[in-house]
Amino acid sequence: MCLDSYRLNAYEEAIRQYGQQQQKAIWLDIGTGAHMPLTRLLIKYGVAERVYAVEANREAYQFAKTVREHLPDEEKRKISLHGCYSKNVDWHAQDPRPNAIIHEIVGCICSDEGCIKVMHDTIRNLDGCVSLCIPYRIGTLCMPVSRPNISLVSSFCSLLLSTSVRIVKKVGIQGIFNPPKDAFLCEKPQFIEEFILHDYVRKPLDKCRMFKTKFIVEKSIAKWTGFYLAPHILTSIDNRNGDTEIDGLKQMTSWPVRYVQMYGDREAINVKQGDEIHVVFESNLTDECPTYRLEAWVHDDYLLRSSFVWKGPAIY
Ligand SMILES: C[S@@+](CC[C@H](N)C(=O)[O-])C[C@H]1O[C@@H](n2cnc3c(N)ncnc32)[C@H](O)[C@@H]1O
Repeated sequence: MCLDSYRLNAYEEAIRQYGQQQQKAIWLDIGTGAHMPLTRLLIKYGVAERVYAVEANREAYQFAKTVREHLPDEEKRKISLHGCYSKNVDWHAQDPRPNAIIHEIVGCICSDEGCIKVMHDTIRNLDGCVSLCIPYRIGTLCMPVSRPNISLVSSFCSLLLSTSVRIVKKVGIQGIFNPPKDAFLCEKPQFIEEFILHDYVRKPLDKCRMFKTKFIVEKSIAKWTGFYLAPHILTSIDNRNGDTEIDGLKQMTSWPVRYVQMYGDREAINVKQGDEIHVVFESNLTDECPTYRLEAWVHDDYLLRSSFVWKGPAIY
């Protein structure tokens, strides 16, 4: 995140806005990371009476410990660093207890790093006494596409970040940096997941969430093979200047866009303007490593439907 200005700026803006309310909170930074960027922003903007920074990854935690040691005493005193999963801290025993949560456990499919389950468990452990969550809303955008041709920039980014430079040939999922937009079959993407974290995590988690939608093809003719999926985040409800929005489809963030190929190379479906592409997206978010199923077909050609199932972040 530290090297991704779109992501960092959107979080910084949400914290700056919170600072204008002149109210300090007791923050919990879930998955603070090696450099603790969010904890340090909370301190920088003077919005934290205290920050509990929790990091499950051992190496990142060790690095964060050193970073904390080198901070000025006044800042250091405000940060309690825990090297474990957030659910393993006994929040009842902490004094004071956190009343605001910040995190960046958001994946390319927004829920695929287990954020919904983590937030659900954490807010329940805190007896629901959480008045603010940053980010405010997370979602996953979906766009039907034809098989993308990878640009040189995209291949170079993929090489640097050790993801595949080739496009899958069969039904499958892969990450692509800055994927070509000329593969889009419509003007506007649609949300297939959307969570206002503060509200959503108070409800019981469903074992099977199902979302159905349809797209109307706007390209005159194309060969439809699958979908791009990308995260969309509002770090704060107030996005009047567009500064608290992160759009993984429009902006080149460090999240690769997921390309889900629903039809193999040879089975690509011919579509034309006005055709309907139907989508069913199912997820089970009751586990920290969620499972997903995407099913799609064109018009009423249900016999030619294709279905693809995967688990967790699925990075190829
Ligand atoms: C995407 S990284 C973000 C790190 C940091 N916030 C940043 O922006 O650089 C997510 C981090 O959250 C940690 N993490 C995920 N779930 C966690 C949990 N329930 N408790 C503590 N750490 C968690 C992971 O180990 C990982 O380091």
